[in-house]
Amino acid sequence: MSWVSIDKTKCNGCGLCILRCPSVYSKVDGEIVSQADVGNCNSCGHCISLCKSQAIVHSEMDMENFPAVNEDANFETGKFIQFIRNRRSHRHFKNKAISRADLETLIDACRYAPTGGNAQSVEIIVVENRDKIKRLSDYTIDFFINAGDNVQQLIEQFAAEGKEPPENLTRIRQYGERFKLAREVGQDPIFHDAPVVMIFHAPQDRGAPKDDCVIASTTLSLLARTMGIESTYIGLLVGAARDNREIHSELQLPLGSELLSALIMGYPRLKYHYAVDRKPIQTRWEL
Ligand SMILES: Cc1cc2nc3c(=O)[nH]c(=O)nc-3n(C[C@H](O)[C@H](O)[C@H](O)COP(=O)(O)O)c2cc1C
Repeated sequence: MSWVSIDKTKCNGCGLCILRCPSVYSKVDGEIVSQADVGNCNSCGHCISLCKSQAIVHSEMDMENFPAVNEDANFETGKFIQFIRNRRSHRHFKNKAISRADLETLIDACRYAPTGGNAQSVEIIVVENRDKIKRLSDYTIDFFINAGDNVQQLIEQFAAEGKEPPENLTRIRQYGERFKLAREVGQDPIFHDAPVVMIFHAPQDRGAPKDDCVIASTTLSLLARTMGIESTYIGLLVGAARDNREIHSELQLPLGSELLSALIMGYPRLKYHYAVDRKPIQTRWEL
């Protein structure tokens, strides 16, 4: 049974579906026919989006969720550049929760971000429980303190040979030292007392899980800015979760799923008055 059927009373034979997806659509005796299943269709929906006469029905998709494209929903380029430049990583938040409705709006919008092979396998965990956030922070801090202690010996070996240690080893040791101090004074150097920690995870065997999670978290964090909610990526948690199974257990991640992106989010306490300088991107043009 094909996933796709064509309403012959609506089809005007334009052939845009064939142009876009010749693996599903073809012309037989002057009539457009389709054969779609898991082998040749990833439910991207492009054929339905292109078909102005709404002749295509897809059994695996919600046909009620194909609203007309609003041409006005666009940004003026200069304003969009300002929006990108005005974004900052925020680590100081007001003591104010983000409403469930706003979080749901953000998560719902996230499903429209692209995924490798249209896998759509990104999953999100919203952590608001203070005790859970503290435990995740503790596991991450422990991880970096242990890693810092472990690399210390290597750094000493380099020094004994009169060599500079690699930068990543020095950085890990610095994190370890910094986090020991923060813990002593009761600060959270991982999640910065944010009201929400948002975890993005995906099964390793589908799509492009890391890219999918990072694109989802980027999409969500930019949209959040339109609601006055700011965020910061927490790569430290992602790094620690790679090797620390306690973080997996704490989050009860499904077997085979990996934590691949994380955000802290909240209403910002600091207001930045100037956009900041960044190095130009080294670009090579091959003409
Ligand atoms: C992949 C990634 C991981 C990051 N991880 C952390 C982190 O664990 N903790 C943190 O405080 N900031 C983290 N950041 C924020 C960066 O430090 C920040 O983006 C950078 O300093 C530039 O500042 P800006 O975001 O305000 O432009 C991360 C950023 C990215 C893109």
